[in-house]
Amino acid sequence: MEEALIATLREQCDLTDAQYLTLLSGEECTEPLRAAADAVRREQYGTDVYLRGLIEFTNYCKNDCLYCGIRRSNPNVSRYRLTHEEILSCCEEGYGLGFRTFVLQGGEDPYFTDERICEIVSSIKKRWPDCAVTLSIGEKERASYQAYFDAGADRYLLRHETANEAHYAMLHPPELSGAYRKSCLFTLRDIGYQVGAGIMVGSPGQTLSHIVEDIRFLQELRPQMIGIGPFLSHQDTPFRDEPNGELHLTLRLLSILRLTFPQVLLPSTTALGTLHPLGRELGLKAGANVIMPNLSPMRVRKKYMLYDNKICTGDESAQCRSCTERRAAAVGYRVVTDRGDAKGFLRRQ
Ligand code: 5AD
Ligand code: FES
Repeated sequence: MEEALIATLREQCDLTDAQYLTLLSGEECTEPLRAAADAVRREQYGTDVYLRGLIEFTNYCKNDCLYCGIRRSNPNVSRYRLTHEEILSCCEEGYGLGFRTFVLQGGEDPYFTDERICEIVSSIKKRWPDCAVTLSIGEKERASYQAYFDAGADRYLLRHETANEAHYAMLHPPELSGAYRKSCLFTLRDIGYQVGAGIMVGSPGQTLSHIVEDIRFLQELRPQMIGIGPFLSHQDTPFRDEPNGELHLTLRLLSILRLTFPQVLLPSTTALGTLHPLGRELGLKAGANVIMPNLSPMRVRKKYMLYDNKICTGDESAQCRSCTERRAAAVGYRVVTDRGDAKGFLRRQ
């Protein structure tokens, strides 16, 4: 039964809602699903694993997402911002370690005006023209997204978190809306970014039908990247007592996404590595082809806690780099020094 569904998905890159539900609801991460996803990944990308160097440049945030450890109403966070120079030295170290993509991620921090973001982006692009710059700084207006793009930003990560509006409202304060979040993603795509959307697996209130809605939304958006990881509770949030997302469901969804979107860039996330000691390796085996090691300075690592027990907060960038390489190699993949652009994507000038 399941094998027939997997064959159909592999052939058609699509299933009915009921069929997706059946595939999602299996108890275990079945070997046939994983193997089919891995075969498609190898057809598209061989054994290559692309790296993204994550620079967590501010943990100030004006938002209050119920799941997130750096939400504005958490008084226990020691807030920090990296300076322009500190950000550039992270890139410099990263470049030496073979990173060709830098992801600037932060809370929604009003200190970082469009002008400041543009200055940072353009100085990175000027100094390392062979690198891609990815922004992950939340919801903005079209003019801001356009300005960052004109300054040289290549990609933008903005998880939609859930495509279901009612569920979105359970995870976010009333001033945020799922409709606006989605419209940001279409704007980004329209401007010419390589776009990344995504969700947390097992967020409070999530059902398997919500995940099917997420797949439908992703089919409509056609993002170049899809970031998924398990929801993990944080002790200082309203979701402190909620259970973590499940390993098997996260792995199954990774495989389903690989089969539905054969060319998509799919990270095996830090959250997956936090949930299980071999989580990132299992993610690669399930169809993921990207890893995002941390390039933030040591002194701020423990301050960017989106969820409890986050891994890599005590490790130097060089350690994470070699650890990543070792872990990928242990399961038969190879970290490459490459921008790792989405297949078939040409930047509009
Ligand atoms: N558990 C897992 N992922 C989280 N994120 C934020 N908080 C958590 C959490 N508690 C994810 C969100 C966000 C991304 C940067 O991190 O999906 O988009
Ligand atoms: Fe950071 Fe393994 S990736 S220590």
